[in-house]
Amino acid sequence: MSDNNITNQPKKRALSCIQPSGTPTLGNYLGALKNWVAMQEEFDCVYAIADLHAITVRQEPAKLRRQIHEAFALLLAIGLDPEKSVLFIQAQVPEHAQLSWLLSCHTQFGELSRMTQFKDKSARHADNVNAGLFTYPVLMASDILLYQPDYVPVGADQKQHLEIARDIAVRFNGIYGDVFKVPEPYIPKTGARVMSLQDPTKKMSKSDENINGFISMLDDRDTIIRKFKRAVTDSEACVRVAPEKPGVSNLIGIYSAVTGKTEAEIEREFEGKGYGDFKLAVGETVADTLDPIRASFERYIADKAYLEELYHKGADSAERLARKTYFKAMKKVGYVL
Ligand code: TRP
Repeated sequence: MSDNNITNQPKKRALSCIQPSGTPTLGNYLGALKNWVAMQEEFDCVYAIADLHAITVRQEPAKLRRQIHEAFALLLAIGLDPEKSVLFIQAQVPEHAQLSWLLSCHTQFGELSRMTQFKDKSARHADNVNAGLFTYPVLMASDILLYQPDYVPVGADQKQHLEIARDIAVRFNGIYGDVFKVPEPYIPKTGARVMSLQDPTKKMSKSDENINGFISMLDDRDTIIRKFKRAVTDSEACVRVAPEKPGVSNLIGIYSAVTGKTEAEIEREFEGKGYGDFKLAVGETVADTLDPIRASFERYIADKAYLEELYHKGADSAERLARKTYFKAMKKVGYVL
């Protein structure tokens, strides 16, 4: 295997996870997943489907099972390579839930109460404020700390959870000696913040009631182009980035993320052209990007045996890493193993 690591230092490790809750959007792809693929060259990467986290809200078993398969197939389809990275399904590695118990006994009720996501979600699902929703950041801390990563790429909404994982690691190490590496957040050099096509002041979201607001990573070509045609713009008819033009600025950001062109180059490319031409160009390039991913996804999802082989191998590799940390933590606490 070629290695452009001239100093011969082992590669730094990066870890991230994604929940299997519905097909990710173009925003998830350009903001996070595309970067996971790029990171494979520079880092020793560990990526998981966070399916244990999914049941903090009630799930239908058959649907959850399908979504776990689909999420795994999608990670392969975007170009995550099981030869380069460890790709696995969280629930298949029991150490996540096991370490979570140790960590939960080293996490304060008060600090979990301050998590903004808990406050939001418990307000939105007032009928199901379960203990798992409350301890979710502890499970996330074990996802991270088990693998001793140097970096964790997370979006703004998960920053606070990474912070608490770091606090737990520092506290645990302070009591028992060095057990966990304290990871840094990883901020990608390029990472687009993609907004809704219908309300460009809001982040693009798969739970948007208006399906024209988001592009699903598995939308077909015609759907993608149609959604871009309907994207909200403004009445100036000039393709340029400006705070008072959030719709057009968002489309320029998307076009820039998929083509690699700069904003200035894009403004020049569409000088004197109307929004019709511009939106069509954005729609077509996004479709060109997602078409091969969708085709690859269809091949993986149709081959259950192959998928199964890959996720079982991934879980074996993950567990080998996770066990080391878990045993060390258990012994330090005083358990007899
Ligand atoms: N909570 C994260 C989310 O909803 C997913 C996640 C679970 C995660 N475990 C993680 C992300 C560990 C980074 C590292 O997006």
